[in-house]
Amino acid sequence: MTRLIVASLGGSVIMPGTPNVEFLRDLRREMARFKGKVIFVIGGGTTARLYAGALSKLDNSKKDQDFVGIQATQLNAELVARVLGVERTDKIGKHNFKKVLVSGGFEPGHSSDFDTVEFALAYGIKKVFNITNVDYIYSKKPGSPGARAIKKLSWKEFRALFPGRWTPGMNIPFDPPAIRLCEKKSVKVIFIGSNVKNMFQAFKEEKFVGSVVK
Ligand code: UTP
Repeated sequence: MTRLIVASLGGSVIMPGTPNVEFLRDLRREMARFKGKVIFVIGGGTTARLYAGALSKLDNSKKDQDFVGIQATQLNAELVARVLGVERTDKIGKHNFKKVLVSGGFEPGHSSDFDTVEFALAYGIKKVFNITNVDYIYSKKPGSPGARAIKKLSWKEFRALFPGRWTPGMNIPFDPPAIRLCEKKSVKVIFIGSNVKNMFQAFKEEKFVGSVVK
């Protein structure tokens, strides 16, 4: 049976300030070599933060900030879809697709992490990958004194490290509504950095660098 991977591809990887051409080139090459199927749900990155930030300064609602963030995820999704030569989908759920399906976000109240978990659940899959700009989950802000990489942790431990309610553009590795959904449905998340080779090693269940939360 063909392996199906569901992955949240962070905006911080695709659009850290300007589009990450090197990452996109590597992604296209490795995707062509990969034998399985992948659903990529794309984040909004700097574009989302800049636009939501403008609305925040203008005292617009969180919902308004989410809506511009969603458009940023769709723009980045279009970019990834074009690079991979596929179409982006306009809804979460089960789709017939050949090898790659690309999506952005759709509704306010959470980030594309939540959409990713919903995609996985639609296919009855209990494992998702979260690709971001750090290699592991850290005990403190990565790079700060005493910050330690944690390779395995429970959702309870994860929640203790990253408490808080949803706010647009919040800077945590996985958003609170997505955490709740994973806990409720027993979904495991593999957190990995933006090294494309490492990412596909994780997809193939080979040795990889990253953290597992379940
Ligand atoms: P992201 O999914 O990029 O979330 O969506 P994020 O946590 O800010 O950033 P990264 O990419 O994981 O680093 C950007 C913004 O778009 C809105 C939210 O405001 C989010 O912060 N959004 C996105 C939604 O409201 N709903 C969605 O389904 C997706």
